Amino acid sequence: MDRTEASERIERLRREIETHNHSYYVLSKPLISDSEFDQLMNELEALEKKYPDLLTPDSPTQRVGSDLTPEFIQYEHKYPMLSLGNIYNEEELKAFCNRIEKIAGGPVEYVCELKFDGVSISLNYRNNSLFMALTRGDGKTGDDVTRNIRTIKSIPLRVSGDNIPADFVIRGEVLMSRPVFDRLNRERIQAGLPAFANPRNAASGTLKLLDPKIVASRRLDCMFYFLLGEDSPWETHYQNLKQAAEWGFKIFEGIRICRNSDEIMDFVKKWDESRNDLTYDIDGIVIKVNSLALQQKAGFTAKSPRWAGAFKFRAEQVTTRLLSVSFQVGRTGAVTPVANLEPVFLAGSTVRRASLHNADQIEILDLYINDMVYVEKGGEIIPKITGVDLSERDKNNIKVTFITNCPECGTTLTRNEGEANHFCPNYLHCPPQITGRIEHFISRRAMAVEGLGEETVELLFNRGLIRNFADLYELNAGQLVPLERLGEKSAQNIINSIRESVGVPYHRVIFALGIRHVGETTARTIARNFRNIDELMNADFETLTGIREIGPRIASSIISYFRDDENIDIIQRLKLFGLNLQEEEQEAREGTQTGTKEAVLDGKSIVISGVFRRHSREEYREIIEKSGGKNVTSLSSNTSFILAGEKMGPSKREKAESLGIPLISEKEFLELIGEE
Ligand code: IVH
Repeated sequence: MDRTEASERIERLRREIETHNHSYYVLSKPLISDSEFDQLMNELEALEKKYPDLLTPDSPTQRVGSDLTPEFIQYEHKYPMLSLGNIYNEEELKAFCNRIEKIAGGPVEYVCELKFDGVSISLNYRNNSLFMALTRGDGKTGDDVTRNIRTIKSIPLRVSGDNIPADFVIRGEVLMSRPVFDRLNRERIQAGLPAFANPRNAASGTLKLLDPKIVASRRLDCMFYFLLGEDSPWETHYQNLKQAAEWGFKIFEGIRICRNSDEIMDFVKKWDESRNDLTYDIDGIVIKVNSLALQQKAGFTAKSPRWAGAFKFRAEQVTTRLLSVSFQVGRTGAVTPVANLEPVFLAGSTVRRASLHNADQIEILDLYINDMVYVEKGGEIIPKITGVDLSERDKNNIKVTFITNCPECGTTLTRNEGEANHFCPNYLHCPPQITGRIEHFISRRAMAVEGLGEETVELLFNRGLIRNFADLYELNAGQLVPLERLGEKSAQNIINSIRESVGVPYHRVIFALGIRHVGETTARTIARNFRNIDELMNADFETLTGIREIGPRIASSIISYFRDDENIDIIQRLKLFGLNLQEEEQEAREGTQTGTKEAVLDGKSIVISGVFRRHSREEYREIIEKSGGKNVTSLSSNTSFILAGEKMGPSKREKAESLGIPLISEKEFLELIGEE
């Protein structure tokens, strides 16, 4: 096959694959089997590999996601992205219709659509090809997330059909279906990562990921609802959407034209009742004037169009009985009240518990045991109690009071001035605080010990085998085997994983210690500023707060951590076990001594930003570390320079300028390390 034939074949394959993608992801009606589809993709991939100059970003092979994006670049929206005015009840709906009908001077056609609860996106197509995808941002400018958007299979990379304007914008909502969301959260919990609160947050978090490959694996979807552009093919919104569906966009099929508020109310009620049948979350109904001419006549307020409104559903609410209130003690000693409820079905799942946050909230709700309470699902996974049905209260019910002593160790609880939470001050001996600290220490982002779950940690603690996390390094497999459900092999695996954890870098060990208020980012800051744990231990309040990212709250917490003899003892033991309690600098030093080129970056803190041609960012990171430098993620006055690739974000550039940090281009850097 010569180049011309290959080019024709590539074009044919792309069309065919796009048709199948559309049938599968938009219409949900596959025309061929998965393996037949794979064959087409394989053939296209092979041809594009052979003729790389024929590869275009709108090829279906590019949906898998390419390299990491350093950060998103902002662009201005051609048409600002506005929000919608809310309509909360029938009366407000009637007022909305009256206003429009007054402007129209007669009857009006409305289009009713679902209000998808996801992340809005604005796509620009030029010459039938997806050109740019922007998030809403502040409504005027948004982040360029094109490379992530390309991975969404139901979004056409190219459009085909009649009446396609040369340049148009189409808007929609990026969504994660509930089954995909549930699976993702299960995986995250297993991996020790925090779960997403709801599909909207998961979709939004996914769109902002820097690695399009992970985005591709998250199976996002997108529903479209608004076509814009100077050459709109039709005179009504409804026809525009129907036309866009023919071009390949996924448009909700149940959109309906209504002629008055009664018809609109029927639509609202119908979907309020059957919203749980959908695989996506919706939070209301959007009502839009159908005629584009009338839309124009109605115009906009500063924030939203006058020709559209969002009828918001009320959060689903059920009543159930409050059986009891339990109090949980966390790793930091904070005591959280939890309501135990008579199981009740709410918005897709059975609810047994609701969070009560703190003592103030119990007081505000004026809760009594056995009360019938209203329960709602808000933005959080755990539902909340929003009120009490007083008409159902029995006079013998007993008022809920906050406990005065720790339910685990009996110590009198404390509550600091101005803080909402009660704390158990028995830091050293309160069991859930001890096991909580050990669980944090071994968690994935800290020491990443595998095979040790919460239950095993509790067993080890209850049997007296460990009292703190330093004890882990003195365990042997023989001690683990007799524990419930632990075979010899898994016991040995746990021991191996504990031993291997001594290789975890310094900043993660600092994070693992569980010092209050020291999260992952602060731990990195600490590691950058204190070359070893002794320096940190000896640092006074002024030294600590002298570091820009460390405020008084964190500084006090670090100081009180090191005032505790038991903590000092633990750290001394960790040192003996060989954990990294200092910055690894040996390699860099060796380089200097032998005079090799590998030490040219000795002691330099370097931020990598932008996209590069010669090496990947990961490779540059390795080069920096091998050459004695340190790759840091955030800019500070300690940064030596920025290795600046193309497309470096404007905010980073500005910050670098204000701090007087030099930018070094890829070419200059290669010269510096002697590669050019
Ligand atoms: S139309 C100028 N239609 O709701 C009108 N928006 O509060 C632009 N949304 O940011 C919006 N479903 O993210 C429209 N069928 C729908 C929608 C919808 C969800 C979101 C969208 C927008 C927000 C407005």
